[in-house]
Amino acid sequence: MSNIVREQFKVQMASFNVRDAFEEIISMYKMSAELKGINLECHISDDVPQELIQDKLRIQQVVSNLINNSLKYSDNDTEVNVRCRFYPRSSKLHIQVLDNGIGIAEKDSELIFKPYTTLPEAQKFTYVGAGLGLYTCKTLCKQLNSSIRLMKASEIDPLIGKTGFYVKIRATFDSVEEMKYQFK
Ligand SMILES: Nc1ncnc2c1ncn2[C@@H]1O[C@H](COP(=O)(O)OP(=O)(O)OP(=O)(O)O)[C@@H](O)[C@H]1O
Ligand SMILES: [Mg+2]
Repeated sequence: MSNIVREQFKVQMASFNVRDAFEEIISMYKMSAELKGINLECHISDDVPQELIQDKLRIQQVVSNLINNSLKYSDNDTEVNVRCRFYPRSSKLHIQVLDNGIGIAEKDSELIFKPYTTLPEAQKFTYVGAGLGLYTCKTLCKQLNSSIRLMKASEIDPLIGKTGFYVKIRATFDSVEEMKYQFK
């Protein structure tokens, strides 16, 4: 079991460039998406500051696990969308990862975050994982003072996706960035 799963890691807070952080992950998955003919899109809203203070690597690990699942549990020639917005009042970065794959029943919304869980629907895929990805995400989010949940179908624009995960990351402003934001 990895240190993340054992909840033994130190959070490393630092200022980081949000768009670069997402770009790095998207470019990591671009190739596997292309191989399945999946259009992997990432939209970072204009309201997201350039720099935020949080643990960049941990956020990337959460988003990576979600994209990895979305690509794995989707058929060829579909679309996976990553969306990111910032809410300055609560100082939270909201991230959604949406896909059009096999879907997850609402009754399983808690179960999927438990370790070693793979749903029967996922078994038809040639590569079935250990069932630790979402548990890792949940553990990481807890450590980052943040949250992750499965979205309800009614919350998702059907034009964008069918299955969605919603992550809220508490992230503070870099002081220079905060000044820029206030005068925007
Ligand atoms: N985007 C998704 N669409 C459909 N089912 C999903 C999706 N993400 C997760 N699941 C379901 O939730 C289960 C748990 O996901 P999790 O990422 O924890 O494990 P895994 O992908 O099976 O293995 P690992 O991530 O350890 O390689 C999956 O086995 C699958 O049944
Ligand atoms: Mg997984």
